[in-house]
Amino acid sequence: MPLSQSDITSVLHETRKFPPPAEFSKRAHVKSLAEYKKIHRESVRNPQKFWGKIAKELHWFKQWKKVLEWKEPFAKWFAGGKTNLCFNCLDRHVNSWRRNKVAIIWEGEPGDVRNIPYASLHRQVCQFANVLKSLGVKKGDRIIIYMPLIPEAVFAMLACTRIGAVHSVIFGGFSSEAVKDRIHDSGATTVITADGGFRRGQAVGLKANVDKALRDCPGVKHVIVAQRTKEPIHMEPGRDHWWHELAENAGYECPAEPLDSEHPLFILYTSGSTGKPKGILHTTGGYMVSAYLTTKYVFDLREEDTYWCTADIGWVTGHTYSVYGALLNGATTVLYEGAPNHPAPDRFWQIIDKFGVTIFYTAPTAIRAFIKWGEQHVLKHSLKTLRLLGTVGEPINPEAWMWYYNVVGKKRCPIVDTWWQTETGTIMITPLPGAIPTKPGTATLPFFGIDPAVVNKEGREVPPNTGGYLVIRKPWPAMLRGLYGDPERYKKTYWSEIKGCYFTGDGARRDKDGYFWIMGRIDDVVNVSGHRIGTMEVESALVSHKDVAEAAVVARPDDLKGQALVAFVTLKGGITADGSLQEELRQHVAQEIGSLAKPDDIRFTDTLPKTRSGKIMRRLLREIASGQEVKGDTTTLEDFGVLAKLREEDE
Ligand code: WT7
Repeated sequence: MPLSQSDITSVLHETRKFPPPAEFSKRAHVKSLAEYKKIHRESVRNPQKFWGKIAKELHWFKQWKKVLEWKEPFAKWFAGGKTNLCFNCLDRHVNSWRRNKVAIIWEGEPGDVRNIPYASLHRQVCQFANVLKSLGVKKGDRIIIYMPLIPEAVFAMLACTRIGAVHSVIFGGFSSEAVKDRIHDSGATTVITADGGFRRGQAVGLKANVDKALRDCPGVKHVIVAQRTKEPIHMEPGRDHWWHELAENAGYECPAEPLDSEHPLFILYTSGSTGKPKGILHTTGGYMVSAYLTTKYVFDLREEDTYWCTADIGWVTGHTYSVYGALLNGATTVLYEGAPNHPAPDRFWQIIDKFGVTIFYTAPTAIRAFIKWGEQHVLKHSLKTLRLLGTVGEPINPEAWMWYYNVVGKKRCPIVDTWWQTETGTIMITPLPGAIPTKPGTATLPFFGIDPAVVNKEGREVPPNTGGYLVIRKPWPAMLRGLYGDPERYKKTYWSEIKGCYFTGDGARRDKDGYFWIMGRIDDVVNVSGHRIGTMEVESALVSHKDVAEAAVVARPDDLKGQALVAFVTLKGGITADGSLQEELRQHVAQEIGSLAKPDDIRFTDTLPKTRSGKIMRRLLREIASGQEVKGDTTTLEDFGVLAKLREEDE
């Protein structure tokens, strides 16, 4: 979508501010705003010096020649160096006192638990790497991982990186169609899957989807199947193998392959707003160094922490913060297979108390679901071990932030609202919890070495509190290296909208403290009577009303105003809309942010159409709001029933 000339009007006014608790700061890696600012200033003045120093904290088989070779838009970080991500995640710890420290605490949905120490993780990864080799998998081959969140999925990822195979994890909720497309695009030769997984008390099959996809994928020679549900499945002779049978014949010795720093590490597909999925490509050295550093500083990780990032490994958050970042730091990371509301809406809080989780990282969509289910489920558990909370994935509405802070964090835990993307690989804009005062709804300030700005179409920075386009002005180690097999689309999507900068696709403003307020995707900016406003701000105003759980605001064409605002609203548990609520909500928005942002229509609904990663699909709502047929790609939609329901409510 072409960028508009005009600025974006920001209407959200949020003035609450929360300094880091003194006790927290005292023990933190970065203890004050002044200390953060000093390190940040130096890190962007000389990024090569900064990142070079950090990289030395990890193991390299061969030292790099140059920290950065930059030929816009192509970067090589730690060029000439040789390393191995799996070695840095495992061998480094196994050769230290951490040998028997628990690396992974895993809980299955039915309640089964596995504690896996570093030494045991190392053995199982080496063994599975040997399995891959025995099937002829070679350095550079692409491997699809399509699994439930069981430890074997993590073994598979690490085994690939150990031998230099390139993994592409596909979220288990995706259909056979999505699997097929991704196999075609990546040219994968091997698929690692499971018979199925458990979700909301049901055994959900996966293998049948693979079978269906493979009817059109002659390039796939081997399928390895982990046993999880023990439901009967078809096994194709010669092609399909049981994980446990192959493992019986594989040894535990498998040295990590020294790989070029720029060796491809993984491909992760994101749907993007239009049709064809984009294969985001990440490489080894830069990603590793940044995953290590961001995890350590953003989560202020300490040796004794029990850290839980709730993301599925099918998303980049699961890659970077459940698996690689945590293991690089020798942390104990919690993984949970199932749904947050099974068998009851307090499952997450139960897990936190059971394992003594100290750091908890989740998504705004989950937080809004918790709000809707009611705080009584949280209050049943003590949560006294928690010391830090995080969010990622969308702008968090200030009222949802306050709820998280009060009800989950008991006003004691700082919240890190972390802005980043599949493309950026690691966290880019975020509070450091001991150093940076937080405000509800802002990701605050850039991480070390990151140089973001809010600019207009010409690439000039806009004044404080003016909306514009969020860009990154310098290359960073974990940046995507391209779209798999499509360098032109890479240039066009990220490097051509604004000269000399990486364009994020997001709108943002900076306040007078320099804090970044993400206003959502530029595609979600609407034009009402000549004002361009981010729909996210109107949503936040709606969510600040006591009865509202979630809101999605879109525009429909309007003869008079250009565009009119339509709000789809879900109410908190137990509340039903009476005749006056619509008008009350319109008045509420007028009061919170001004009457220009008052929605023209308000529609109540039980559910909103979301992607499988929990993002509201505003594109579909736009089509419904303007009375059009729903077109375009709906393969990422989580619940197809939602569309039919929304249409009924329309009538
Ligand atoms: C887009 C990236 C990064 C892992 C999960 C999502 C939005 C993400 C925030 C945040 C406001 C956020 C942006 C971004 N987003 N985090 N803390 N505040 N917006 O990865 O699917 O690649 O999506 O999610 O719009 O561009 P993704």
